[in-house]
Amino acid sequence: MESGFYSNDMERIVEADRANIWHHLSQHKKYETSDPMIIVEGKGMEVWDAKGKRYLDAVSGGVWTVNVGYARETIADAVRDQLVKLNYFAGSAGSIPGSLFSEKLLEKMPGMSRVYFSNSGSEANEKVYKMVRQIAHKKYGGKKYKILFRDRDYHGTTITTLSTSGQPERAAQYGPLTPGFVEVPHCSEYRNQYPDAESYGIAAANAIEEVILREGPDTVGAIVLEPVTAGGGVITPPEGYWPRVQEICRKYDILLHIDEVVCGLGRTGTWFGYQHYGIEPDFVTMAKGVASGYAAISCTVTTEAVFDLFKANPDDPMDYFRDISTFGGCTAGPAAALENIRIIEDENLLENVTAMGAYLMEGLNGLMAKHDVVGDVRGKGLFCGAELVVDRDTKEPVHESKAQAVVGECLAQGVIIGVTNRSLNGLNNTLCLSPALICTKANIDEIVTAIDNALTKVFG
Ligand SMILES: Cc1ncc(COP(=O)(O)O)c(C=O)c1O
Repeated sequence: MESGFYSNDMERIVEADRANIWHHLSQHKKYETSDPMIIVEGKGMEVWDAKGKRYLDAVSGGVWTVNVGYARETIADAVRDQLVKLNYFAGSAGSIPGSLFSEKLLEKMPGMSRVYFSNSGSEANEKVYKMVRQIAHKKYGGKKYKILFRDRDYHGTTITTLSTSGQPERAAQYGPLTPGFVEVPHCSEYRNQYPDAESYGIAAANAIEEVILREGPDTVGAIVLEPVTAGGGVITPPEGYWPRVQEICRKYDILLHIDEVVCGLGRTGTWFGYQHYGIEPDFVTMAKGVASGYAAISCTVTTEAVFDLFKANPDDPMDYFRDISTFGGCTAGPAAALENIRIIEDENLLENVTAMGAYLMEGLNGLMAKHDVVGDVRGKGLFCGAELVVDRDTKEPVHESKAQAVVGECLAQGVIIGVTNRSLNGLNNTLCLSPALICTKANIDEIVTAIDNALTKVFG
C-alpha cells in the first residue's frame, strides 16, 4: 500500500468529519486549523490514514483492542456468515455462536462458570455492580452494598462506572456521582506511599484492609481491581500484593471483581492477567480484546456460586438478575470472538506475547539507560509503560505537554504510541505501549527507535 492508493475523495471525507463528528476525548478547537486524523485501512500491525501515510500501531487501535491485528479475513467471514444466518435475537434466548464461544471461553477460566453478554467494558462492569447490590439485598438485608475501587484504576465511562474511577480527571465535572463506592490506595511501587514498610506489596494490600475496617466489613460487598492497571499508568502489582488481597477478601466475605477489559484474552501472555497471580475471582469482566474490535462484545463472567444465588427462589418474581442488554444479543460479537480465540490458539500468540513482551521490556530498559527522563519502565507481556520524570531522585513528573510531544514525534515518524491521557492530575506522564499480540522483533525495533528519537528531540 502506498500514498495515493486510495482513489476516494478523501478531502470530502475529512470535511464531512470536521463538520459532523464529535470525537472521543478530544478538544475540537484544533480541528479548525488542522485536519482530524482519519484512519482508512489496516493490515496486521499497520494502519493508513486519509493521506495515505502508513503507521505502525503500537497501541492496538489506540486503546489496546485490536489484539490479533487488522484485516483478519477469517473473522470478517465468520461475522458475515453469522449475520446472514441470524444477526440478532434478544439475550433471553441463546444463539449458536454465543453458546460455542462461552464454552470455549470458560475452558480458559478454571473456576469460572457463567457468561453474561453485553457490549462494552463499562456495561460489563456495571452488570457486576448490579449483581453485587442485588446480592446485598438478597443475602445481607441490603447492608453489604459498598463496592471498593482503587486509586489509578479505571472501569468505564458511565456515571456509575466513573463513580469507581481512580482517575480523577475522568470523573471530574460529571458529578454528582453514584453513592456507595469507596476508594482504596494505589499499588504503584514506583510512587511508594509506605517507604518504611518491609514489603511494599503487603503494605499496599493492607491499606485495603484499613479501608474495609473504617467502612465496616459488614457494609462492603465487593472490590473491583485491574490485574495490571492500564490507563492509570501501566502499574504492575508489587510482590506479595495479590495473595494478601485475596486473603483480605476471604476474611471479610468480600467478592473479588477483576476487570480484565484491557488484559483479557492474551495481552499479558496468559489468557487473563489474573492468571499470573493465582487469583480466584468471583467476577471477571472483559471487552476490548475479546473480539479484537471486529464486533462489539463484552462479557461478565461469574462463578457458579454467584450464579446460584440468582436462581435460588424461582417463586419470587423479583429474585433473578433482572437486567437486559439489547445489543448483548448481537450474534456478531460471539461469532467474532470465537474466531479470535481460535487465532490466538492456532498461532501460539500467548507464547509470542511472552517472548516479544520480554524483548520490548529489554528495549525500554535500554531507553531508560540512555535517557534520564525515563524514570521507570514496567509491564507484563505486550502491555508496557515508561514513566517520564524531570528528576529521577524527586520523581517529579514531566509536564503532560512534554509527554504528548513524545507521542507527536513518534507519530511524525509513523509510529502510534499512547500516553496517560486526562487521567491523573499532574501525572499524565506515562507512555503506553500495547502492540498487537502478533508483533515481531522488527516491529518492536521500530517502536523503540521511534521513542528513542522522540525522547532525544523533546528532551535533548
Ligand atoms: C480497565 C478498563 N475497564 C473498563 C473500560 C471501559 O471499557 P469501554 O470503553 O468498552 O466501556 C476500560 C476502557 O478503557 C478500561 O481500560
